[in-house]
Amino acid sequence: MFHDPDFLPFTPRATPSFLAVSRNFLENYPTQAYRSDYWTSEGFLEIVPRMHYVASPALIEELLVSRADAFRRDEVVSRALAGPVERDSLFFSEGAEWKWQRRALSPAFRHENILALVPHFSRCAQAQAQEWRDLEQGASVDIMHAMSRTTFAVIEKAVYGAAEDFDRDGFIAALRPVLGGVGWRMLAAMFHLPPDLTPYPGFLAARRATRFLRAETHKLLAARRAVADDRRDILGLMLSARDPETGRALDDSELVANIHGFLLAGHETAAVALAWSLWLLAKDQESQQRLREEVCRLCGDAEIGADTVETLAFTRQVLQESMRLFPPAAAIGRQARADTTLGPHHVRANEPIYIITWCLHRNETLWDEPLGFDPDRFAPDKVKARPRYAFLPFGAGPRICVGMGFAMLEMTAILATLVRAFRFETAPGHRLELAPSFTTRPKGALPLRVTRLDAKVGDDASRRLSA
Ligand code: HEM
Repeated sequence: MFHDPDFLPFTPRATPSFLAVSRNFLENYPTQAYRSDYWTSEGFLEIVPRMHYVASPALIEELLVSRADAFRRDEVVSRALAGPVERDSLFFSEGAEWKWQRRALSPAFRHENILALVPHFSRCAQAQAQEWRDLEQGASVDIMHAMSRTTFAVIEKAVYGAAEDFDRDGFIAALRPVLGGVGWRMLAAMFHLPPDLTPYPGFLAARRATRFLRAETHKLLAARRAVADDRRDILGLMLSARDPETGRALDDSELVANIHGFLLAGHETAAVALAWSLWLLAKDQESQQRLREEVCRLCGDAEIGADTVETLAFTRQVLQESMRLFPPAAAIGRQARADTTLGPHHVRANEPIYIITWCLHRNETLWDEPLGFDPDRFAPDKVKARPRYAFLPFGAGPRICVGMGFAMLEMTAILATLVRAFRFETAPGHRLELAPSFTTRPKGALPLRVTRLDAKVGDDASRRLSA
């Protein structure tokens, strides 16, 4: 078990602050939120409604799984995210529309199709490694930015193959002002103001960036339509999808919304999870070495492939433990479609209900020493002994993340490739601050020092392990 004060990098507030909503909304959950299984906030002057918070595995199961149909995505978060994520996408669709979009896209995420992409995941990591090999030993790199570029290369290929004239660095850069505005948009949505028209610091830059992202996504669709092509990538599947009952296809607005949604949701979340994993391993050198030894023992110096990626059990546990402490999606929101109950609690129609994953994953009644980093928590026997809904990085139930299997294999291949080739250390003098918005990002850069390891280190690691 490794402890570090940075693992809780802020002090929970005794009373919530509206300003914290835009800066770091996680500050607003008091220490009680790390112990309770249900609590409410009472609303504000009839403007902000009463909100329910659940952290009991039984209530979560009811909300997301067994009575999922009684609830929909909550309006505050939906209005805050509509813009960064487009309304016509799978993420926002509801009812029959959601069902058919989800069914149409599911083949892209079948296990065998994802396994076929593993060499591509490894090569994207190798391309990143190649860039670091040119740096001097111990150079400081912004691991957050590096992981964004790596996971973007991954998702780009999975969604539409490689597009010739796509401005990918421009696309990644344009996402920053857009996603950085989510907290402000949330504040506007809470006060029933239209987030698209309510100015905040960086509002104009975010608007310009949104227009650019939309135009680039339209260009991608137009480029694919211009060539007769039956590729089975995610875009190919979307283009050929037909509703089995009506024969309807996705229209252009739905296609653009989903291309954009996959590019965004598919790379940003995985980038954040990988960046935190490497940062946690930089803090806990013993776990880093153990992971390296596992990769060397099971894969030698061969590329991580479809046949080896799933054998890397400790690598996977590191990713899970890192998503426990720093879940990329820090909250999941719903609201009741009509007056109802949740367990013994009365919930009125449209009152938001939140699972604050950040707090759930640190709940003292569910986790021993919740502030410590310990990948062994995810050893199979330990997982079995815990309630299923204590750990929710990807959600649960019918709306569970459609990219979960994709993300786990992608992140395992990338983490294994990088840790085998480099030692990661914390950068002296760096003070961690969080700036969660769409994902649980650090504020600014997340610097780490990277040192190239020669092949011998890998050999030594495997020898030590077999001794
Ligand atoms: C570490 C990586 C990832 C994390 C932590 C993550 C997390 C989540 C969470 C928490 C949800 C919402 C569940 C809910 O509201 O109940 C979600 C939904 C979704 N995710 Fe992911 N995700 C990841 C990677 C991906 C990838 C790689 C893709 C696509 C390639 C993806 C596409 C989606 C989509 C389309 C939805 C909406 C699904 C629906 O409503 O039916 N995600 N994800």
